[in-house]
Amino acid sequence: MRVLVVGSGGREHALCWALSASPLLTKLWCAPGNPGTAACAENVPIGAMDIAGLVRFAGQNAVDLVMPGPEAPLAAGLADALGLEGIRCCGPSAAAARLESSKSFTKEVCDAAAIPTALWERFTDPHAARAFVRKRGAPIVVKADGLANGKGVVVAASVVEAEEAVGRFIGLGPVVIEECLFGEEVSFFALCDGTSAIPLGAAQDHKRVGEGDTGPNTGGMGAYSPVAAFPPALEQLTMDRIVQPTLAEMRRQGTPFRGILFVGLMLTEHGPKLIEFNARFGDPECQVLMLRLRSDLLAALVAACDGELAGFDLRWEPTASVAVVMAARGYPDAPEAGSIIGGLAGAEAVPGAMVFHAGTAATNGVVTAHGGRVLTVCGTGADLRAAHDTAYAAVRAIDWPGGFCRSDIAGKALADP
Ligand code: AMP
Ligand code: GLY
Repeated sequence: MRVLVVGSGGREHALCWALSASPLLTKLWCAPGNPGTAACAENVPIGAMDIAGLVRFAGQNAVDLVMPGPEAPLAAGLADALGLEGIRCCGPSAAAARLESSKSFTKEVCDAAAIPTALWERFTDPHAARAFVRKRGAPIVVKADGLANGKGVVVAASVVEAEEAVGRFIGLGPVVIEECLFGEEVSFFALCDGTSAIPLGAAQDHKRVGEGDTGPNTGGMGAYSPVAAFPPALEQLTMDRIVQPTLAEMRRQGTPFRGILFVGLMLTEHGPKLIEFNARFGDPECQVLMLRLRSDLLAALVAACDGELAGFDLRWEPTASVAVVMAARGYPDAPEAGSIIGGLAGAEAVPGAMVFHAGTAATNGVVTAHGGRVLTVCGTGADLRAAHDTAYAAVRAIDWPGGFCRSDIAGKALADP
């Protein structure tokens, strides 16, 4: 099979790495890719948002399946455009991708299908929104309704902070105000074919830039899998109460969901509640999951595209994996570009370690930083402790004064088994 992965992050490197092990694969491209994907796929210089360019390339090169990493091309209609050409895309239509791109759409689906989630209201009038905040009190959560690059959510500790967030977000469009949920957060993934879904595992992300979950939110500074706080019984409950009812409601609306459903959960004392959906894998969650997947990823993605997931089963290694994101100094506000990264070969030589590239550039064999999140340095091991130690041994082998990482990825889980 001839496969095109779309994107250029650590997630896409991990997808290329996993797909390149498939016995079904005959050719793998990545658009636009990065220096890491170049080692297991052929990079093609087409941007992830160049929908027409991607469709043209896929048609001209007899691509059998397109696997998009990020959500933006899906929201812009990549799967729809490929569908018109009869090319498989393991991602939702633009209409179904609203599960990520519109928070109020997701909440309406939750209400229609009785999915456990935070109580919510949507406002277009700032006065009504502020009055609601004052009535409910803090803590309370204020969200911009549309895609906001991960900057559209404020968990407000006070009414003043919530009212300030309303003032900022209302200029971008409607705001959603939610009850504040408490508990442990888990990223759970399901592969969906429009009707059926199978679990793709769970990981815990570390969203804040600083040690001990402090500082601004990021795309994710590290992850680990499996998650002891999310045992098989909770996974089944999530499939039954959240994933399956969502697929049924999306089908009922005439916009079936195909692809990767990212189920952002809060494990509350009343069971798992939905925080948000995304229409794609998480980054760096994808990296830790791909390191544990034993089954053929490509066969599963094809089954999802062909509506043949019922009865499909994925097998996982009984190991653990930990991903430590190394970011350029200044991330997330103003990452510095151009610093030289050494020691990559030494890091990859650590037994059980794997380095996925994200924001790197390579010229004449010299690798430099070229983005915010630059590397995902991973370790696998028999248990979380071993995986953690391997990941940090690989981090120590990297010689990059211009970069930093958190030293406490998986630390809470290790301290509180
Ligand atoms: P989102 O962009 O919806 O994933 O929100 C970003 C982060 O805000 C989540 O990862 C949670 O940590 C937090 N958050 C969002 N909604 C809620 C909620 N209803 N209660 C508590 N925390 C929330
Ligand atoms: N790591 C969270 C995300 O990919 O959205």
